[in-house]
Amino acid sequence: MKIGVIGAGGIGGTIGTHWAKAGHQVLFSSRNPEKLSELVATAGETAQAGTIAQAGAFSDVIFLACYYWTIDEAISAAGGLDRKIIIDATNPYMRKDDTNYRVPDASSGLELAAKVPTAKVVKAYNTLPTATFANEAHRADPIALFYCGDDGEAKAIVSQLITDSGFAGIDTGDLNQVIHQEPGGVLYNHSYSVAEAQKLVRSLVH
Ligand SMILES: NC(=O)c1ccc[n+]([C@@H]2O[C@H](COP(=O)([O-])OP(=O)(O)OC[C@H]3O[C@@H](n4cnc5c(N)ncnc54)[C@H](OP(=O)(O)O)[C@@H]3O)[C@@H](O)[C@H]2O)c1
Repeated sequence: MKIGVIGAGGIGGTIGTHWAKAGHQVLFSSRNPEKLSELVATAGETAQAGTIAQAGAFSDVIFLACYYWTIDEAISAAGGLDRKIIIDATNPYMRKDDTNYRVPDASSGLELAAKVPTAKVVKAYNTLPTATFANEAHRADPIALFYCGDDGEAKAIVSQLITDSGFAGIDTGDLNQVIHQEPGGVLYNHSYSVAEAQKLVRSLVH
C-alpha cells in the first residue's frame, strides 16, 4: 500500500518503519521534511520523506499521528482526503504548563470523522505506548491491537496493516466504540493477548 504518515514522531516513525520493512511504500511527512533523513534511512528503500501535502497526494492510507491540537492544521495541509482511509492514532490530550491533560469528554476519533466526512476513519494504534510498538512487534504470541470504524473494507485493510506491523488486530466495532479505546476506556493502555482481548471485547455492551 501507499501510506502517508502525518506526524513522523515516536508513533508515526515507529509504525511507519514497521510498514516499510514489510514492503509498503511509506512517505513520512513533516513540516520540515529534511529532518527525516535518518528515519528514512532506517526504514529502508521503500520509505521516503516529504511535506504533509505530498503525503496526502501520495497515499491510499493516511496514518495520522500528530498532536490532538494540531489535527485541523494537519488535515488542512494534507489537502483532499476524499475516500482515503485515515488511521487515527491520536489521543485527545492538550498541553498546559508542560503537562498533558485529557480533554474531558473529547474523542479525537469521532471529531476527526466529523471533520473529514468523505474519508474512511479507522481508529487504531492509539491504545499502546510507543515503546511497546517499538520493542514488542512480531512476537510469537502477538499483542492485541484494537481498532474500530464504520467502513468494513477500510477495516479489513487496517487489520492487514496491523498484522504487517507485527501485532494482532482486534475489531471492536463501529467508530462509536472509540469510547472504549481512547484514554479512560477499558481497552486503553494495556497489553493483552489475543484471547484476552477477544474476551474483553465480547464483554463490552455495543
Ligand atoms: N507517545 C505515545 O506512547 C502514544 C501512544 C499512542 C498514541 N499517541 C498519540 O499519537 C500522537 C503523536 O504522539 P507522539 O508521541 O508520536 O508525538 P511526537 O513524537 O512528539 O510526534 C508528534 C509529531 O506531530 C507532528 N506535528 C506537530 N505539529 C504538527 C502540525 N501542526 N501538523 C502536522 N504535524 C504536526 C510533528 O511533526 P513535525 O514537527 O516534524 O512537523 C511530530 O512528528 C498524539 O496524538 C498522541 O496522543 C501517542
